[in-house]
Amino acid sequence: MFLRVLRPGRGVAAAILLLAACPVLGQDSSPQRDALVVETILRLDSVNLDAKPRTKEAVLRWLAANPGSDRFFDVVERFRIREAADALVSLATTRPDDTAGVRAARVLLDIDSARIDAVIAAADADPGRAAALVTALGGAGGREALARLTCCLGEERLPLGVRVAAATALGRSREGGEFLLARAREGALPIDVRFTVATALAASPADAIRAEAASVLPLPTTADATPLPPLRELARMPGDAAQGRRLFTARATCSNCHVVRGEGKEVGPNLSEIGAKLSAEALLVAILEPSAGISHNYETFLATTEDGRALTGLLVSRTDREVVLKDATGVVHVLAMDQVEDLRQSPVSLMPAGLEKTMTAQDLADLVAYLVSLKSS
Ligand code: HEC
Repeated sequence: MFLRVLRPGRGVAAAILLLAACPVLGQDSSPQRDALVVETILRLDSVNLDAKPRTKEAVLRWLAANPGSDRFFDVVERFRIREAADALVSLATTRPDDTAGVRAARVLLDIDSARIDAVIAAADADPGRAAALVTALGGAGGREALARLTCCLGEERLPLGVRVAAATALGRSREGGEFLLARAREGALPIDVRFTVATALAASPADAIRAEAASVLPLPTTADATPLPPLRELARMPGDAAQGRRLFTARATCSNCHVVRGEGKEVGPNLSEIGAKLSAEALLVAILEPSAGISHNYETFLATTEDGRALTGLLVSRTDREVVLKDATGVVHVLAMDQVEDLRQSPVSLMPAGLEKTMTAQDLADLVAYLVSLKSS
């Protein structure tokens, strides 16, 4: 039966009239007609759309023409219309910060959560889309969303942008904030999202979380003693590349260790084409958390010698006879192996942490604008 119970009230008469004309529904497919079908089924207590293909066609047509409207969500939610999953994914990924995008994520979680997991699993192919969906999930909240966000945060194979979005989204809610704080206390927070988490918790809506975060995860301070904005915002700040270039070679001391197009000292990697390799977000993490991802072949080694010297540097070479280290100032030390008491790799980058203390948020944006511009041309 198309109709079991009619809700009393306004519109029932219209519903009955329309249903009487049911066989012709779908033959006349004007938008007005489709809208009337939608209004009608919403007034009914129980409708099995799958048993009414023409009605369902009209509803699907109407949904395709009205994505994101309140009515759209009412219909999709109430009749669990999985054919709308594409539209929901597209709403959640293009408008993750507004009501429609967040509601789309919530409905997807309810009617077709596998679609969410598929977008996240395809993050390598489209990191921006996955990150946007993660943001929308953060807005949606609830246990199912939280489970996915915590999973993204810890999944180190996901692109950084997605994990940053997960950290930011978690920091927005009390449950997410508590999870992040617990991870931080255990020392189990992945290092490349630590700064994002610190900024997210500093803006937590829960007083207790903000207060504890200030001691567990203090924010990096900048030259003007104001906390940095969250990583995603910082990455989007417009910067002046020419100003960034000046900072690179002067106050920020980058050229003490990095060569760009023949200028600077060669301690760390050559950055002449770094703009083709790292996104603005990844560049910021490289600057704010140098030990987050140490570049291959630039691991730090600590050597202690029999005569009591302790040296820290990059491993230039190593044979049975000698080990060669280059220290942070570019000075090369040759140590005879029989003089070396201990040689071990360190998880700490030779690139100093805390360089942002000499800069403001705008300086960082300028610096990143400069680095992003460094591509082969
Ligand atoms: C004392 C030396 C030193 C200074 C100063 C320094 N760096 Fe580095 N930097 C390194 C070393 C060594 C590495 C490689 C190890 C690592 O990845 O952490 C590195 C890595 C990087 C990377 C990652 C490169 C890649 O290919 O993945 C970037 C980007 C970077 N530095 C930018 C900067 C910027 C910008 C500044 C100035 C604000 C700066 N560095 C200052 C030594 C330094």
